[in-house]
Amino acid sequence: MSKSKTIILTLTILFVVISGVGIWFYSTKDQREFSKVAYVEYCASCHGDGMSGARDGLDLFSTALIYGDDTESLINSIQTLPVHGDIAWVDDFPETGIKALALSISERRQQYPSISDSYQFSFSPKTIESTYHRFKVERFSELKHRPYSIAPMPDGRNLVSEKLRGLSVVDTAGNQSKLIEGTPEIFDKFFSADGAYVGWRHALEVALHPDYANNGWIYFSFADRCQLSCGSAIPQSMVKVVRGRIVENKWKDEETIWSVDKEHYTVVPDALAGGRLAFDKDNFLYVTVGGKSFYKNLHDMDTPYGKVHRVKDNGVVPNDNPFWLSENERDPSSTRNTVYSYGHRALQGLTEHPISGKIWSTEMGPRGGDEVNRIVKNGNFGWPLYTNGLDYDSTEIEIGADLGLDFPIEETVLPVVDFTPAPALSNLSFYHGEKFSDWHGDMLIGSLKAMSIYRLRITDGVLVEKETIATQIGRIRDIEIGADGLVYVAIEHGDNGSILRLVPI
Ligand code: HEC
Repeated sequence: MSKSKTIILTLTILFVVISGVGIWFYSTKDQREFSKVAYVEYCASCHGDGMSGARDGLDLFSTALIYGDDTESLINSIQTLPVHGDIAWVDDFPETGIKALALSISERRQQYPSISDSYQFSFSPKTIESTYHRFKVERFSELKHRPYSIAPMPDGRNLVSEKLRGLSVVDTAGNQSKLIEGTPEIFDKFFSADGAYVGWRHALEVALHPDYANNGWIYFSFADRCQLSCGSAIPQSMVKVVRGRIVENKWKDEETIWSVDKEHYTVVPDALAGGRLAFDKDNFLYVTVGGKSFYKNLHDMDTPYGKVHRVKDNGVVPNDNPFWLSENERDPSSTRNTVYSYGHRALQGLTEHPISGKIWSTEMGPRGGDEVNRIVKNGNFGWPLYTNGLDYDSTEIEIGADLGLDFPIEETVLPVVDFTPAPALSNLSFYHGEKFSDWHGDMLIGSLKAMSIYRLRITDGVLVEKETIATQIGRIRDIEIGADGLVYVAIEHGDNGSILRLVPI
């Protein structure tokens, strides 16, 4: 064999071996995770391998727990029950070890599937008896591809944005139209990892102007992309918002409403890009941009990451935004003029309250610490210094301190509701309509991992009721209230999607 062939063969073998080790390491990471290892070592002898009890009465999975099953109660049981006192363990644990064990029990009890299993889930219709309403969950429409967002139209149709396709309309019988022609070009995924698409330039949210009935404006956000024009070999992307009108299935009159200098485009792919949109009562438009792993920038107003941005409906920047500076005082590439709040992690949901017009968001935490937040002007939402979640390896989140961030928790806006363990909260809506009259003003939130819908009643900023009204219905990307008062839910499964509908019976 010639020398060059030997080198190529050796490099190929090396590549295969390194990739193999990498894939093995990634796919077995859960088995090495602290709480799983500790459970087997310290708890399984009494509580059983699958938490279903090795002895009578010690089932932690399928029965109601005597001392409660929220994270705090679980921590308390593990730490203080006399029977646990003799186990020589706690000294070996990291500081957050007990909380991690509590999360592990809670995640198991709620039967969160793995991410790849959740993409394979197939929906079947069901009837649900919830506290205030009996209803069925039915499939209303089958979509060609994975949806990110739906927008109910006044005439009962729904606009849909599919991540790898673009915009289309679903009519009142559930039939999906052809693609709307002429919207910004969308790129295919680069590859899939764990079922999730990895790529740049995916479609994000579609939303109607509050006065759509008169002006026809449709707002569309997507991850804009550049490569060589950004001087990069690898594609880069960043959220961009345009508006346009649909005339005879064509996208017309396009205007850019929010975009940033190419300097802020990043090679981090589009998952968790955000791009959620909401309007308030004065027609200001709010746009979310995820942290995109640039955690040290979340507290730097000159960059777009981890912020909620605010512009007028025509894209003009209001000078009462909290970090606004006149043109000669600021760097032209700075994003500070549109920043409204900051210190966010992964803003996957944004909506307005139909009466107060206040803007609310959901945010995904790490392992635990998903949040429901009320967005306030100049609000510092604390990430990555403060969270109720843990890192995926069961340790405390230390990124904030490592980056040198330093501000007291009193200066941050605390979540109105915390979800620990984390169901991977996605979009949310306030119920308004006649069909589910006893849910009036309640918040409905979807989730990806838990595949559940939560109903929250919040009075004067305080959670007074929390109910899981549906589980096991699929990875929910969006939840909206139709013009007919029914609840429309966009889910993704495999490479396709569906719109489900909650109908009272
Ligand atoms: C020596 C056996 C034993 C071991 C080991 C043990 N437990 Fe327990 N555990 C029990 C018993 C017995 C109870 C019920 C005590 C009671 O009702 O007062 C219990 C109760 C609990 C409860 C409360 C259940 C409820 O109904 O509210 C939790 C949670 C729990 N254990 C978690 C753990 C975890 C996590 C570990 C490992 C770190 C662990 N246990 C190790 C015996 C054990």
